[in-house]
Amino acid sequence: MEPRQRVTLTVNGETVSREVPVRLSLADFLRADLGLTGTHVGCEQGVCGACTVRLDGRIVRSCLLFAVQLEGAVVETVEGLTASGELRALQAAFHERNALQCGFCTPGMLLTAADLLEASPAPSREEIRSHLGGNYCRCTGYQAVVDAIEVAAARTRTPTPTGGGER
Ligand code: FES
Ligand code: FES
Repeated sequence: MEPRQRVTLTVNGETVSREVPVRLSLADFLRADLGLTGTHVGCEQGVCGACTVRLDGRIVRSCLLFAVQLEGAVVETVEGLTASGELRALQAAFHERNALQCGFCTPGMLLTAADLLEASPAPSREEIRSHLGGNYCRCTGYQAVVDAIEVAAARTRTPTPTGGGER
């Protein structure tokens, strides 16, 4: 039987403590143990970006980490960032610009785009494409995704009275 180990970390602002198999990935821990199924699992080898989450303020591939590595860490997922409103402008722009179809890639896209806009509030289309180079989409095509991020960036720089500028 696979050894187990207790890990205690903060996920979306709440302390969670679980005894887990030592080889359980962070992605599977979030989905199966915590029910946070907005983090998707595609390639399971760090290539597609569907499992992107924020760890101690930086985006990471949660399929490449073991949950037991994260003692004391702070993890934020698409659910937490949605609840806090941090993704609101991006989510609105993705919706308006038809930047998703099945939505499988979308949580990873949103977290990666938020990471870009935090570092670069007015990115060029080339910068957007480059930053999202590790996030694959099987259905939409990237044009609409880049459009949406451009729109969200512009609104974030110039907030509107309707609230569309919040991020
Ligand atoms: S599932 Fe983690 S990068 Fe594809
Ligand atoms: S919207 Fe389906 S994979 Fe991107």
